[in-house]
Amino acid sequence: MGILGLIALFLLIQLVPYGHAHDNPPVTQAVKWDSPRTQQLFEDACGACHSNLTNWPADSYVAPTSWLVQHDVEEARGILNVSEWDKPQPGAGEAAEAVTGGEMPPLQYKLMHSSSRLSDSEKQDLADGLTRTFQLDPPGP
Ligand code: HEC
Repeated sequence: MGILGLIALFLLIQLVPYGHAHDNPPVTQAVKWDSPRTQQLFEDACGACHSNLTNWPADSYVAPTSWLVQHDVEEARGILNVSEWDKPQPGAGEAAEAVTGGEMPPLQYKLMHSSSRLSDSEKQDLADGLTRTFQLDPPGP
């Protein structure tokens, strides 16, 4: 395929509706954080995917990145969503471990968003804070 073919393809895929919605569903019940520090660390490193308060980044408007971002956010909200604390949260029990083990936030996100790259002490603070928060305010129902 020549360069014109690639440009045409790039323009064409922008017409695919998937990935354009960028919706932030209403917050049905916010988790009660144990401290402002935990909340801040979570917002910096996790909130874009694991809450309904996603600050959709510029690259999420251009296909094919938009498809990947949309898919990540939908999957992440289904596992752990601090904006729907009135519903069961299957990922809550593993959250501290995902932080200290370095699985979360995902690598591609850390590459794009420097504020989500946590130091070892920040990881520890976030993990401890998540454990405390989820004990004090377990998800419903
Ligand atoms: C770029 C979006 C994104 C960010 C940012 C993000 N996650 Fe995730 N998270 C996902 C996706 C997608 C999955 C499901 C697929 C997977 O496991 O990789 C997931 C899965 C999880 C799970 C389920 C267990 C597991 O490891 O699969 C937990 C717990 C979790 N995330 C916690 C966090 C925490 C805590 C943060 C912040 C430190 C965070 N996530 C940041 C997208 C994200």
